[in-house]
Formats: sequence, structure tokens, C-alpha cells
Amino acid sequence: MALRRKDILGLKDLAPDEIDSILKTARTMKSIIISGNKKAPHLQGKSVVTLFYENSTRTRLSFELACKYLGGASANLSSTGSSVAKGESLIDTGKAIEAMGTDVIVIRHPMSGAPHLLAKNVKASVVNAGDGMNEHPTQALLDMFTVLEKKNRISGLKVAIVGDIYHSRVARSNIWGMTKMGAAIKVVGPATLLPPKLEQTGVKVCSSLEEALDGADVVIGLRIQLERQKKVLFPSIKEYSAHFELTEKTLKYANRDALVIHPGPINRGVEISSDIADGENSAINEQVTNGVAVRMALLYLLTRRDAYEAVN
Ligand code: CP
Repeated sequence: MALRRKDILGLKDLAPDEIDSILKTARTMKSIIISGNKKAPHLQGKSVVTLFYENSTRTRLSFELACKYLGGASANLSSTGSSVAKGESLIDTGKAIEAMGTDVIVIRHPMSGAPHLLAKNVKASVVNAGDGMNEHPTQALLDMFTVLEKKNRISGLKVAIVGDIYHSRVARSNIWGMTKMGAAIKVVGPATLLPPKLEQTGVKVCSSLEEALDGADVVIGLRIQLERQKKVLFPSIKEYSAHFELTEKTLKYANRDALVIHPGPINRGVEISSDIADGENSAINEQVTNGVAVRMALLYLLTRRDAYEAVN
């Protein structure tokens, strides 16, 4: 099935059958990655530009490798070292990138809604690689892909999301996506890091780590995003860890075979201990591989002719 849209801006507006189609395509793409011959023709003649106004290791590199593994051309533009630093607007930058024949623009931006603005102003497909505190849809898709690989289903699973929910675009995208795919989600974190009206998204807000992890099949740890906090939102890192760190002791509240995932980069000893991050329940490294597979799937589906025909 093709996607019924030009852009991937968030999971809030993606239908379950579209999510399903991306995850199924990602399975095929993963077989290309592990085949050892990472030279498929799906993006031959297509080009992708990653336009990043914020730092990234995993997302930017995985989009660029995803494009290359499928035979496409990829290039990167960062806000530093480009005409963005001279004050060029987002729309003008996007139009310049498009004028070079770009088929897909992958954008990360500190302002929520920036990818939506770009998508309205260019004919190229736009993929949101993280916008402010709004969404990080490709991260949630790779998280769902990892869950599916390890648990063979998403529907009916109990998922706990732990930590800085307020600043987390990963949490928001996972809440939209996993809820649509039938998971039951509990969240927990310091009261100052829980957004208001969270219950309206269909999640259960818990008052302790023990309550959130009780019976969990999947545990998603989140990075404490000190760079987004305008003021101190909890007394100290030590106090945060004492209540919310995923450790051998606290993970005992979850199911024995609970899958532990984290979008990275991780703060070891703050939100997750090394023995859990590197332990047998963790799929943190596999998430990174799966990120390439999911991004290969998205680039392929967005550049298929029938994807455009569906929206034009
Ligand atoms: N998970 C994630 O978005 O990582 P990067 O910031 O390294 O891209």
C-alpha cells in the first residue's frame, strides 16, 4: 500500500493502516541491511537532503545511510555553516534546496511546527526528524518496529514511558502511534515534567515508578533534556535518579521479559543504569539498526509515484 500523503509530519495524523504499511516495508528493508549487500535500487534517481537546525547523531546519519543503501543521492545542510546563519528564512532555504532537484527534505528544528510550515511551501516531500517539543515520528516508528520484532505484536501490550514527558517529542509520537496500534500506555515522571491534560491522550498517568512499571511488557526510558529546560524542574539529578532511574532493582516491577528501549543519547546513571542499558532486556543498539530500516521504508514509500498520485 502507498502512503496517502506527501509528507510525514507526525503520528497524530497517520492512520493505523499507513503505520502498518511502513512497519511491513521496514521489515523488507531490514533484510537488505543484514544481507551484507546494501545496494538496492529503490531510490535510484532520487535525492534526499537532511536539513538540521539541531544536533543529531542517529537520525541524521540513519537518513543519509538509508538513502545511500537504496541507491539515492543524499546531502546534508546544517544551520551552522550555511546561509541559515546569515539569516535566510526557513521557507527560502527550503525553496533553494528544492530548486536543486531534491525529492525529500528531512528537517529537524527547535520550533514545533517548522516542518509543517516547510511542507506547505515546497512540492518536495518533507519528513519531520523532530520539531521542538511536538513530535519525532520516525523515532516512534522505529520504536514500534523494534517492539514488533521482539514481541510479535503491539496491540494489547502494556507500555510504560518513564521520565521527562513534558519536553519529549519521542513520548508524544509514541503515545499517538502506540495507542493507535492498540497498546495500553502508562507514563510517569516528576510532576513538573508531565504536561497538563495528558490523560486526554488516552494514557494513564502514574504517581510512582512502581505503579507505571507494574506488569509492563515494554519500558521506554527518556533522556532528561536539560537543554530544553528554561528553569530547574527537579531538585537535583541525584534526586531524579533516586525516583525514576531504570535499574536492576526498579525493573523488577516490570515483567521479567520486559523490553527496554530508549531513543538515545542516554545519560547513564541518570535515567538508566549501565547494567540495564547493556543488559539482556535492552534493545537500544537494535533500535539504531531499525532506525535505518524504518527510514529506508519511509523514503521508498514517499518517493513512489503512486504516493504522489494519491495526494495530487
Ligand atoms: N533519538 C534521536 O533522535 O537521536 P539523535 O538526536 O542522535 O538523532
